[in-house]
Amino acid sequence: MIRNLSINRIYHSLRILGIETSCDDTAAAVVDSQRTILSQACRNQLKYHQPWGGIVPSIAKNHHYENLVPVVAEVMKDIEWNTIDAIATSVKPGLVISLWQGINFTRQLLQKYTHLSFIPIHHMEAHALTVRLTHDVPFPYMVLLASGGHCILGIVEDVDKFYRLGETKDIAPGEAFDKSAREMKLHEHPLVQDMAGGAAMGYLAREGDEKRYQLITSSYSAKMKDCSFSFGGMLSQIRRVIGKESIYYGSSSTDEQKLKDFAACIQASIVRHIETRVHRAILFCDTIQKSQWKQRLVLAGGVASNLYLRQRINDLCSHYGIELVCPPVEFCTDNGVMIAWNGIERYRRNLNVFERMPEIVVPEGRSPLGSDISEQVCAYDLSVPFDWKTILGKKHVLL
Ligand code: KG4
Ligand code: ZN
Repeated sequence: MIRNLSINRIYHSLRILGIETSCDDTAAAVVDSQRTILSQACRNQLKYHQPWGGIVPSIAKNHHYENLVPVVAEVMKDIEWNTIDAIATSVKPGLVISLWQGINFTRQLLQKYTHLSFIPIHHMEAHALTVRLTHDVPFPYMVLLASGGHCILGIVEDVDKFYRLGETKDIAPGEAFDKSAREMKLHEHPLVQDMAGGAAMGYLAREGDEKRYQLITSSYSAKMKDCSFSFGGMLSQIRRVIGKESIYYGSSSTDEQKLKDFAACIQASIVRHIETRVHRAILFCDTIQKSQWKQRLVLAGGVASNLYLRQRINDLCSHYGIELVCPPVEFCTDNGVMIAWNGIERYRRNLNVFERMPEIVVPEGRSPLGSDISEQVCAYDLSVPFDWKTILGKKHVLL
């Protein structure tokens, strides 16, 4: 039954428990409507999956099962259950077997604490809205959602109103980072072995020379005048170079500097591709006279914690007088706070708030966020200056 909110309920300070199990992090948090994070906890499973070279669903499921009780106990340690209004839980998109764990555990909690409402959460919507907890960002705004499983460029018009300008046609940038890091055996490198692939790459790239290797922009991304992404061709090329030049940790022909240079090259290629799409999105907003869409650009999702990406996009935004807003790094990667906050945003508007958990709540592995307006972008055939920094005066190649 959908909750019928009384006026009192809307105006008193809300407290929501958020539960996140969409991939390999078991996370929970309690957040209130004054934007206070009352508690948070997260157990990462990285080390259990690393030997297998990727997330193993059955391992993820077992760890979520073991971790949910202690993680929720930790966040509720100093909080009375009767001061909580609702539980918000990720139900899509993600690893279905993992999402089930969060949903089943939420059901048990709701059976015990019957005063609580239930709010199903779209994991990518939560990434897109987190910035409104940490910064004063009114609607609408442009957002880049870049993570291990997604890459979406869109407009957030409201809590439940999202337009997709473009998304990845194959793999996400996080996956390209993770698979490249794996090929380079960075999980054996003592300096970065405890980091996620993208974070390891970013760390090594800080002291690397991105010009030492040349990765050719794929013909797809050069030809398509849209805001969609493609990292599959780039990953194949990265793999070829790694194989040919033996660029991996432990290789007799690869010293530390070579690793750093190649990491910088991979990072620059991924970031340049994203930058072109963001640039086209800015031009698109101008073309259709939706300047309010591009007053602010938000970077979200795990890959948005990449400092080089932030720097490049910040330069682009400064050029166009756009404010770039990034949630703190700890809220870019998966966490419970973003789920709880999404719960607050939905509860306040009474959007899909259930007084009792429906009998059937089924997780969804895939679930597009909002409406697709990418064809409108294509229709304008907008060219982006290849090196936009030379826009003024000099010649430039159009992509
Ligand atoms: O949002 P997230 O925590 O989980 C998903 O929903 O996928 O994103 C995880 C992804 C991983 O692919 C990880 O390698 C990448 O974010 N990542 C980074 C950085 N930190 C995490 N990628 C680039 N630079 C980073 N600093
Ligand atoms: Zn995520």
